[in-house]
Amino acid sequence: MSEERGLLEAAERYLTRNYRPAPVVFARGRGCELWDVDGRRYLDLCAGIAVCVVGHSHPVVTEAIARQAGTLVHVSNLFHNPLQIELASKLCSRSLGGRAFFCNSGAEANEALLKIARRTMQKVRGRPERVEIVAMLGSFHGRTIGALSVTGQAKYRDGFGPLWQPVKFVPYADLGALEAAVSDRTCAVLLEPLQGEGGIVVPPPGTLRAIRELCTNRGALMLLDEVQTGMGRTGSLFAYQRSLADDPPDGLSVAKGLAGGVPMGAILVTEELARGFEPGTHASTFGGNLLASAAALATLEVIDRERLCERAGSLGERLRVALEGLVAERPAVAVAARGEGLLQGLVMDPAIDTPAVVAACREKGVLLSVAGGNVVRFSPPLVVTEAELDEGVGVLRQVLASPPRV
Ligand SMILES: Cc1ncc(COP(=O)(O)O)c(C=O)c1O
Repeated sequence: MSEERGLLEAAERYLTRNYRPAPVVFARGRGCELWDVDGRRYLDLCAGIAVCVVGHSHPVVTEAIARQAGTLVHVSNLFHNPLQIELASKLCSRSLGGRAFFCNSGAEANEALLKIARRTMQKVRGRPERVEIVAMLGSFHGRTIGALSVTGQAKYRDGFGPLWQPVKFVPYADLGALEAAVSDRTCAVLLEPLQGEGGIVVPPPGTLRAIRELCTNRGALMLLDEVQTGMGRTGSLFAYQRSLADDPPDGLSVAKGLAGGVPMGAILVTEELARGFEPGTHASTFGGNLLASAAALATLEVIDRERLCERAGSLGERLRVALEGLVAERPAVAVAARGEGLLQGLVMDPAIDTPAVVAACREKGVLLSVAGGNVVRFSPPLVVTEAELDEGVGVLRQVLASPPRV
């Protein structure tokens, strides 16, 4: 029996059944390549679902983690640690200028964002009646009860109700519906600058700005979930910076790429929103510990040193052109290419079995993922090369030549 087979049997026996993992067990990685426990090589254009922005085992991040592991891993937030302070200062000065709170995942960051928005309305602005969150259909914000309550997709919510009630959903980027939904009971509007899990849905130009203006005019807060889009993926450190640099949101959440694969989440908020948290009002035992902060600082250093934001922008353009080529070649199979930077999707015709397309690519050694049910998602490490992207598109082209159908 191969090592992989034995592990798969043990997984079947011992793990809860909330995932549907592919029958592959990975052992090591380097850059955009992964090897399974039996030594087979894969090209990773999924990057742990948009997490590994600097690739696998980047020497700068590896060295920082190893050094920190041998120095000091954790002290708790009963005390200061120098790396959390340095990271907060770097992230704030490159985003909203205010303050940062650290946690361990995207869902947890969104929980913190909702809590700080609510508490700011109640205690800072003195508007306790403003309790509602306006969120988007098709959104994904995570699996905790709070994050699920603002996630506008039934398949994630089913069986977990009743969820948090004061949430109104509107179609994504529908300004008319938003105008109607935002009222003097609205605490905040929460959205992704580009919907990731919803199927790589890019809002029309000007949408974020119009939402910002609406929120300002109606006295509501604007919150962005940059868990998937942040850390350079879409061509700037945070996606909002390409359209809202001069009139930013009140707060944003970030996770996934933040510490290059080490679990870490954060919220970055304005000074006003920061006043919503006072001592004792929110916490996370592990949040911002030395190990995760060291990994995040090293990740940020690599993003800057290797100019990964610019790289995501230019390589993303090139990838989209290649995907548009696939649409032109097989319009009955692939109907559209869309995305920003290195978060790109190929939208499949409803007759095509998209998970089976992704599985067929994996069998040929290329890792991609499914978003929104019918979109093949490319979210490679931002260090990916042109040759690696061409290899991935080439394999997808082969699969689409005789595509699995539903
Ligand atoms: C936009 C967005 N928000 C939140 C999350 C949840 O993040 P986590 O799985 O780290 O809790 C995700 C995960 O895919 C996401 O894409």
